[in-house]
Amino acid sequence: MSEEQKKRIDETVQYLNQRKPNAPKIAIVLGSGLGGLTKQIDVMDEIPYTDIPNFPVSTVKGHKGTLIFGKLNGVDIVVLNGRFHYYEGYSMDTVTYPQQVFCGLGVKTIILSNAAGGMNPTFTEGDIMIIRDHINFFGTNPLIGPNDDTLGERFPNMSEVYSHRLIQLARQKANALNIHLQEGVYLGVSGPCFETPAEYRAYHILGADAVGMSTVPEAIVAHYRGMEIFALSVITDLGVVGKVMNASHEEVLAAANAAEPKMVQLICAMLPEM
Ligand code: HPA
Repeated sequence: MSEEQKKRIDETVQYLNQRKPNAPKIAIVLGSGLGGLTKQIDVMDEIPYTDIPNFPVSTVKGHKGTLIFGKLNGVDIVVLNGRFHYYEGYSMDTVTYPQQVFCGLGVKTIILSNAAGGMNPTFTEGDIMIIRDHINFFGTNPLIGPNDDTLGERFPNMSEVYSHRLIQLARQKANALNIHLQEGVYLGVSGPCFETPAEYRAYHILGADAVGMSTVPEAIVAHYRGMEIFALSVITDLGVVGKVMNASHEEVLAAANAAEPKMVQLICAMLPEM
């Protein structure tokens, strides 16, 4: 990371450290169509990105653009309500800016959510998939560039990016709540195109169960900075041979909205034990 970038992050962290009403150890990143979780939060402060020094601003429909401090199920959290995507034209530094800031704020655990296309033939629209591992197909990496050894290792070990402990906790809670969970590998692409049938097929052959346009860069940086990660995909459309849908952004948002209550229930149940 460049010295200027480090300075920008420090300024953001300083501003938020002065303004934040609580000291959350857990951050939640909300994916497309999953912003309804915010209705369950006891909000202590909701800060538009435009008020935060050096913070990027999001441009996508269905992504709101506020940082929320509050409590969910009695647990202090900070929520990124609207993430930054590579396809919007942001640099990888900007896409992963919030994770660097969370780390500076003392966050130890991060929950990443997204809407994704399902390629595993056992999946159906509306399923929730716990991300067990990922494949980085962005064609770039947010850690490219000079490494600051005080922040993380030059060659990060990636053998357990998604915490086995938190996956186990999710299975336990989902079971108790009677929520059917899928598990699998998420493949991250730049977008903005949805996949061709041949691409869906190719990614499935490569070992992926779901594909989407986010999460991977964020998980790489959060892991690099030593945070524990839990991530889930809401399957909003299918890229299964013979069932490839003609998905539009509106349909993705609608499917994510429909599955969201399950996701919220699961996260609420997990939070006190995270
Ligand atoms: N592909 C990529 N990203 C997505 C999809 C998809 O099918 N669905 C939701 N986000």
